[in-house]
Amino acid sequence: MRNRVEVMHGVNLGELARRDPSQYGGLTFTQLEQKISEYARELGLVVQFFQTNHEGEFVERLHKLEGLADGIVLNPGAWTHYSWAIHDALELTGLPAVEVHLSDIMVREEWRRTSVIRDLCIASVAGHGVEGYREALARLVEELPR
Ligand code: DQA
Repeated sequence: MRNRVEVMHGVNLGELARRDPSQYGGLTFTQLEQKISEYARELGLVVQFFQTNHEGEFVERLHKLEGLADGIVLNPGAWTHYSWAIHDALELTGLPAVEVHLSDIMVREEWRRTSVIRDLCIASVAGHGVEGYREALARLVEELPR
């Protein structure tokens, strides 16, 4: 079974505990990763985590995923809304990807409603907090060949 999932967090997500708890749930980043690890285990997936505040590093990690991952769950943070560089790097991976946002980007500021990666993703999950990662991983399982 192809079960390796790269979970990628972009800019500012490493500081999760310091961000608005009414939007992001008040978890620490470590707690977020622990929860995602539990969900992955329940679903029979093996997860690898990656977080950076540098757009070029995010792009380069995507470049290296061939042969290392079978699917991607990504929350690029604010890059979601404007990084065509991340769009193009995600596209070249050719891997099934699910976009996740802790907050509901559709009901916040106007500029957050745009996602430049949405068209490349098999699904987008937003506004379900950490649970959204369970949904994203479950959606990937449906996609991965057994
Ligand atoms: C976010 C939403 C983005 O608009 C924001 O810039 C983030 C986090 C989310 O998980 O809700 O950093 O991707």
